Amino acid sequence: MYRPLFAVIDLAHLSHNIRYLKSRLSPSATLMVAVKADAYGHGVRPVVGRLAREGVNHVAVASLEEALEIRAWNRDVNILVLGAVTPDACAKAAEAEVEIALTDLSPIDQIPRLPKRLRVHLPLDTGMNRLGVKRTDEAVALARAIAAREDLELVGAGTHLAAADAPDPGHAAGQMERLRAFVRALEEAKLRPPRIHAGNSAALLRDPAWHLDMVRVGIAAYGYSPDPSVLPAPALRPVMSLYAGVLRVARAEAGETVGYGATYAVQRPMTLATVAGGYADGYPRHLSNAGEVLARGEFRPVIGRVCMDQLMIDATGLDLAAGDVVALFGYDPPEGWRAGWWNRIRPEEREVRVQETYRMASNWEERRVLSLDRLAERAQTIPYEILCRVHRRVPRVVCD
Ligand SMILES: Cc1ncc(COP(=O)(O)O)c(C=O)c1O
Repeated sequence: MYRPLFAVIDLAHLSHNIRYLKSRLSPSATLMVAVKADAYGHGVRPVVGRLAREGVNHVAVASLEEALEIRAWNRDVNILVLGAVTPDACAKAAEAEVEIALTDLSPIDQIPRLPKRLRVHLPLDTGMNRLGVKRTDEAVALARAIAAREDLELVGAGTHLAAADAPDPGHAAGQMERLRAFVRALEEAKLRPPRIHAGNSAALLRDPAWHLDMVRVGIAAYGYSPDPSVLPAPALRPVMSLYAGVLRVARAEAGETVGYGATYAVQRPMTLATVAGGYADGYPRHLSNAGEVLARGEFRPVIGRVCMDQLMIDATGLDLAAGDVVALFGYDPPEGWRAGWWNRIRPEEREVRVQETYRMASNWEERRVLSLDRLAERAQTIPYEILCRVHRRVPRVVCD
């Protein structure tokens, strides 16, 4: 590690979140965790490994590529591809024992005879208007066509809730009602698959009646409520914290400006700290003159425009020096990451030292957090997007 910018992936917090979510899960339901987009940016391999330790054996991804990547090092976990798989890729999915959701891109009559049985899910559109069949007779016909083939096995049927975190649960309740009609039709035709699933994080936190046979949880596993104003879940702990080193501390006088476009005019003498991390790293440029960082336990504003690789903060009155570390989001850094800490450690030892010192600072309940809820709102986005977009050039330091 050379550049002082890294994300800590706290697997103890992932475990904590999974245990909490399981405590809220209806006893008849299975927990599936969405690990698409490299586990929402956290790194799919350590996340899947930790999920297995927590007894989570079902994961969901968006593409067959993502599924095969997991299969290359994990033979045991049950993987469902939520996105489209083309007919010519079905043999590959079957061979890797990956489950797929059928879409219009894979009409059943175009799926060639498969050398191995492929487990499939029916996608039911109950109101998201994204993917899946819209009518019960279509669902029954599709289930019948699957049942007629020896090389296909119908193992599930799922729908996706569009507004389970809305203040008014009416939209989701309407979707659940339509899902029940689908299930009744499948039952009458004696084609009900074993796993009916609809819920996401919002559904898990909102109503056990929406858990059915399986819940596909994403964001809550990574420590965020889909909407904390509607579904507060203070027990969840952010799994990712993004840490950046201070590159320079300098005084600026009244009349000077800061950053590209000279959008910030200094009104009175102030201290600016330049820190590593910019929009190429995934830090939203919308946070120009709007974001804040957690420096020495204080929330400090981002000054001027966010650059591609750096940003500036107001460090007036703070005891901050080059080589200190601040949080761009997540938990307040451990006390030891101060007094030019970065430069005092050899590059090849930094990862291990981050792990050791992070783990030693274990008072997480009392530690201040710069929540992505707070930042995402200011950046006119959602925590999901910020997490997924942390660039691959930012090393993930996995802490057990
Ligand atoms: C089909 C499907 N199920 C479940 C999830 C998980 O949703 P969340 O992260 O809100 O829990 C997603 C996420 O986008 C999804 O697309």
